[in-house]
Amino acid sequence: MTIKNDRLIRALLRQPVDATPVWIMRQAGRYLPEYRQVRKQAGNFLNLCKTPELACEVTLQPIRRFPLDAAIIFSDILTIPEAMGLGLHFAEGEGPVFAHPLRDHTAIDKLIIPNPAEALTYVTDAIKLVKHELAEQIPLIGFAGSPWTLACYMIEGHGSKNFALPKKMLYNEPTLLHKLLTKLSKATILYLNAQIAAGVDVVMLFDTWGGLLGYNEYPQFSLHYMQEIIKGLNVSQSGKKIPVILFTKGGGQWLPIIANSGCDAIGLDWTTNITLARQQVGGSVALQGNLDPCLLYAKPDKIVTEVQELLAAFGKGPGHIFNLGHGINPDVDPECVSVLVDAVHTYSKVYHP
Ligand code: CP3
Repeated sequence: MTIKNDRLIRALLRQPVDATPVWIMRQAGRYLPEYRQVRKQAGNFLNLCKTPELACEVTLQPIRRFPLDAAIIFSDILTIPEAMGLGLHFAEGEGPVFAHPLRDHTAIDKLIIPNPAEALTYVTDAIKLVKHELAEQIPLIGFAGSPWTLACYMIEGHGSKNFALPKKMLYNEPTLLHKLLTKLSKATILYLNAQIAAGVDVVMLFDTWGGLLGYNEYPQFSLHYMQEIIKGLNVSQSGKKIPVILFTKGGGQWLPIIANSGCDAIGLDWTTNITLARQQVGGSVALQGNLDPCLLYAKPDKIVTEVQELLAAFGKGPGHIFNLGHGINPDVDPECVSVLVDAVHTYSKVYHP
């Protein structure tokens, strides 16, 4: 079946569109009162992810409020380490914590690559429910974390500013880290292929911590494994192509090599100049982003001006997917999201004559 509003797919494949598509990272989340209510009902965040009916409901909440051009399945990147048995919980106000972080050879050797058909059916079941509810109105994005970003949480055991423990392993025991990253790549290929089989139309890799790596380390310890994942994906599904978006936060200095990774689009954070980024990647990939998430704290006319500036900075022609440069903050007023989405659709038309 063809998707009615296929702007996102077309823009990702750099095909002409009538207006620039827009969606927002973390568009389902705490800034929406209806989300906070369902989360309360679920008891905690992980229960919410693991209950397909509730995950489906919160996936659809932002779609009901705003004319977004895509939905993203409500889940988390840490589902894979959870399925590997690391004992994940989300401490209130603290973020993710693992009961059994990876600290030695034995722990990494023991890790089993989860079979998504056994350990992650709650995600594929939620995808099937959402696809049914969306009724091919807009595309659904599936996702996973990059192996390096998952390794950061799995080794450190929780969130951190600098992830000193994975960085220590990188310099002191690189072979051991490569072993872990190889296992995570294999697990992610199986997981994303299961999401594709369940119906997602696009996949995105979140490399939130790739920007912590040194200039020479990023290609070996993060990009290489994302490239292995892209190679392993079943991107041709009943005659249609599943586009792949690769987002490395802080990845602005590696755009030319990211563009050669086999991805269809690069997600940019807000520190990157999109005009220069477009020049650097030529016409080889689409670009997604990259408004500063904090701009949603500004007054509506400021939001509109900045949207216009970003659209102008990308310029004419296809290949731009409007988004924030990182996830939306939980204390944003939903009305500001409405202003942003409408401004993108209204003011982008002139760039698609
Ligand atoms: O974009 C979407 O709407 C889909 C849902 C989504 C979530 N997490 C839901 C979530 C996506 C795509 C993610 C990805 C994710 N998860 C990343 C990569 C993207 C990024 O933001 O950099 C990372 C690093 C994680 C790990 C994670 N999950 C952290 C660090 C936290 C705590 C931070 C926080 O905001 O509290 C989470 C929890 C989480 N994942 C929430 C949501 C809506 C908040 C949970 C809640 O309190 O209700």
